[in-house]
Amino acid sequence: MFPIVFLVCLAAIGTLAHPTTKRDAAQLITSCNKPNTVAITFDDGPYIYGKDLINTLDKNNVKATFFINGNNFRCIYDSDMMDNVKYAYDHGHQLASHTWHHKNLSTLSWDQLHDEMWRVEQALQRIVGVNPAFMRPPYGEYNDQVLQVSGARGQKVVIWDFDNGDTAGLSAAQSKGRYKDLVSKHPKNVLTLNHETHNTTVYDVIPYAIRKLKDAGYKFATVAECFGGDPYQSIVGPQTKDVSV
Ligand SMILES: *[C@@H]1O[C@H](CO)[C@@H](O)[C@H](O)[C@H]1NC(C)=O
Ligand SMILES: *[C@@H]1O[C@H](CO)[C@@H](O)[C@H](O)[C@H]1NC(C)=O
Ligand SMILES: [Zn+2]
Repeated sequence: MFPIVFLVCLAAIGTLAHPTTKRDAAQLITSCNKPNTVAITFDDGPYIYGKDLINTLDKNNVKATFFINGNNFRCIYDSDMMDNVKYAYDHGHQLASHTWHHKNLSTLSWDQLHDEMWRVEQALQRIVGVNPAFMRPPYGEYNDQVLQVSGARGQKVVIWDFDNGDTAGLSAAQSKGRYKDLVSKHPKNVLTLNHETHNTTVYDVIPYAIRKLKDAGYKFATVAECFGGDPYQSIVGPQTKDVSV
């Protein structure tokens, strides 16, 4: 049983004012720095396939990175979703922010950007007690202001250099074809994009991709490991404060 049962994703939430202090723009990451290494990343969770996916990763000794939303396919505060987030963390996978509602960040104001970011950070602090050091903007859309706000929040911005195409409507066979082509080109390193909300990605494409990549001699790393950096800005342990969002 998970102790936090009173947090919910309300439909209407106000926008708080946030300091306009400018700091250095966030570092932008588009590839994994480690040679012969693949970072497997999953966006848009938490979702119902999460535990199965983590069991597959664990069975293969692969540590992956999860870019988590607050209120996208599911509300992060639903108890089964909090369980999935905790499961990923407890099994040593990296948790990172994909922001709260999965909006196009390039269309948002300074305050709205802070809002989209801090709500997820707060949720991850409440559920597992970590403040993420990495953020991936939904759709890979960002502008200078997005980089500035991320920098002010102490986060690096992560894109990708390989997309399995699941959200673009590719079939499992086509996504596997993309992985096959990737392996045959054998780039020095790879930063992949996958979506844990796609059934076939979880049950078909990823097991295939891991096998192909392993056979080709690649190692696997989290995004933080790709840069030798810390996955989190702070680790405080889960909180159980009785507050609503
Ligand atoms: C996001 O917004 C920007 C700025 O309006 C626009 O150029 C871009 O096409 C949008 N991207 C998506 C995926 O909607
Ligand atoms: C995945 O999708 C297939 C086809 O829609 C379905 O039969 C299967 O039950 C789904 N698997 C899970 C775990 O939801
Ligand atoms: Zn996304």
